[in-house]
Amino acid sequence: MKILNAQQIKELDAFTIRHEPIASIDLMERASGQFADWFIQKFPNNTPVLIFCGVGNNGGDGLAVARMLCQAQFNVEVMVVRFSEKTSEDFQVNEQRLNKLITIQNIHSEEDIPLIEEGVVIIDAIFGSGLSRPIDGFTAQLVRQINHSQATVISIDTPSGLYCSSNNSDTHIIEADYTVSFQLPKLSFLLPQNQRFTGTWELVEIGLDPEFIEQCETSYHFITSEDASHLLKKRKKFSHKGHYGHALLLAGSFGKMGAALLSAKATLRTGVGLLTCHLPLCGYSIMQTALPEAMCSIDHHEHYITEVPSLAKINAIGIGPGLNQHVSTIHVLEKLIQEAKQPLVFDADALNILAEHKYLLKQVPENSILTPHPKEFERLAGETINDYDRLKLLQEFVIECNVIVVLKGAHTAIALPNGSIYFNSTGNPGMATAGSGDVLTGIILSLLAQNYTPDHAAILGVYLHGLAGDLARETEGEEALIASDIVEYLGEAFAVLRN
Ligand code: ACO
Repeated sequence: MKILNAQQIKELDAFTIRHEPIASIDLMERASGQFADWFIQKFPNNTPVLIFCGVGNNGGDGLAVARMLCQAQFNVEVMVVRFSEKTSEDFQVNEQRLNKLITIQNIHSEEDIPLIEEGVVIIDAIFGSGLSRPIDGFTAQLVRQINHSQATVISIDTPSGLYCSSNNSDTHIIEADYTVSFQLPKLSFLLPQNQRFTGTWELVEIGLDPEFIEQCETSYHFITSEDASHLLKKRKKFSHKGHYGHALLLAGSFGKMGAALLSAKATLRTGVGLLTCHLPLCGYSIMQTALPEAMCSIDHHEHYITEVPSLAKINAIGIGPGLNQHVSTIHVLEKLIQEAKQPLVFDADALNILAEHKYLLKQVPENSILTPHPKEFERLAGETINDYDRLKLLQEFVIECNVIVVLKGAHTAIALPNGSIYFNSTGNPGMATAGSGDVLTGIILSLLAQNYTPDHAAILGVYLHGLAGDLARETEGEEALIASDIVEYLGEAFAVLRN
C-alpha cells in the first residue's frame, strides 16, 4: 500500500470525484459515513459528543458526522472554529443540512472557547490533510485546552495541526486517543514521535481511485497482508530438502547461546531445507540437544567464534545473534565479508563490529541485509534530532552503502538501496523482549536461503515476525510474551498469510 503526501491526497480526491464520477459532497458523505459507523460501534449512544469543526472540508466531514450521530440518537454539540471568513462549498452544504437538526455554535475568539466537561467525547474535525501552516491564534488556545482536558479525543483523518509528512512537533497539535483516517496511512502516523498525537490510528475505506494511487510516485509504502501474501512462495509437492536451501548461522558465545538457539529455531520454522550453525565449543551440546534438526560446525575456541566455516553448498549466511566483539570474531567477520558470495544478514554484535570498524562497513557486499534497532543504527550511521531526520539518514545510508536496512521498531522500516522504505503493519509491544531480534534474523536468513530476493526476504520476514507476535499475543498477552512464543506461532502466521 502506498503512502502519499498531502498534495497527492488532494489530487487523489479530485481524480476520484472526476472519474468515478461522484460529487465531492457525496464523497464527503461516504467518508463521514465510514467515520460515523466506526464511532457508533465504539461508543454507546448515551455518550455526550462535542464536535469541533474547522471551516474547510475537514470541518465539512465533522458537520456530516454530527448529523449522522444525531440521527443515531447521540447527544451532539457542534462548535465551528471560525479561523477564516472563507468556508468551503461542501462545508456550507453540510452546515445547512445540520442546521435543520441542531443549533450550531461558533468560536470566533478565545472567549468563545467552552469549558470541556468531564465524560464528553470530542471529535476533532478542525484541520485535516489541508493544513498548510502551524495552528496559531485562538485555534492554538483551543488545541491547548482540548489537550489539557480529560476527554477522549478522536480525530477525523489526522490530528489537527499535524503535518502529513514533515516535522512540526513543536507546534500546536491535537493529542488524540484515536485517529480514524481514510484508506491510506500518512507518513507521520508511522513515526514514534507522533504516537502522542495520533493515539491509536485506524483506516477506513472510502473507495478512492486505485488506478490513480497505482501511478502515484512515492518512496514510502505500508506493508499489508495482501502485499505479504503475494510474496509468499508455494512449496512444491515433488520436492525435497535440497529445494529449500542450506542456511549457515554464525552465532553464540559463552553465556549467549540462547540467542543462537532462538535464531536457529526460527530459521528452521521458516521452512529452510538445511541449517548449519557455526558455534563456539561451549555451544555444541546445547544446540545438539535443544535443536536436533540443526547441524553444527564447531569452532575450536571454547567461548567465541574464531574461524570461518566452509561456505561450500551454503545458500545464505546469517551472523550476529549472541556473538561477541572479540578481536578474533572481528577477523571472522572481515573474512566472511571478503569470501562470501551468498546473501548475508547481519545482526546484533555483527552490526556493532561494523559500526566500530567503518572500513568493514564499506566492504559489506551489496544487497546485504542489516537489522539494527535504533541505537545500533545510530552507531552505524550517526545521530539525528527527530524521526524524520532519521528516515532521511536511513535513505542516504542505504543508497550510499548499497545495502538493505531493517530498522526495528513499532513500524519496522525496511529501507532498500533505491531509497524506498516499507513500513511494517504487524507486531505489538509484547515483542519488545529479549531474543525477539534474534528470531527475526533467523526468519530472514531462512527466506534468503530459500532463494527469496533480499528485498522480499526482508519485507516478508518482518511481516511474518510481527504476525507471529500478534498471534502469540492472543494467548500470552503482551507482558508474558517471550521470543520463543514468536517462533512457536510462525506456523500459524504462515497459515494466516496463505488464507
Ligand atoms: N490556519 C488557518 N487556516 C489554515 C491553516 C492554519 N494553520 N492551515 C490550513 N488552513 C486552511 C487551508 O488553507 C484550507 O483552506 P483553502 O482550501 O481555502 O486553502 C483550509 O484551512 C482547510 O483545511 P482542511 O479542512 O484541513 O483541508 P481541506 O479542505 O483540503 O480538507 C480533507 C481536507 C480533504 C477533508 C481531508 O482531511 C480528507 O481527505 N478527508 C477525508 C476524505 C473527504 O472527506 N474528502 C472530502 C471530499 S470533498 C473534496 O475533497 C473536495
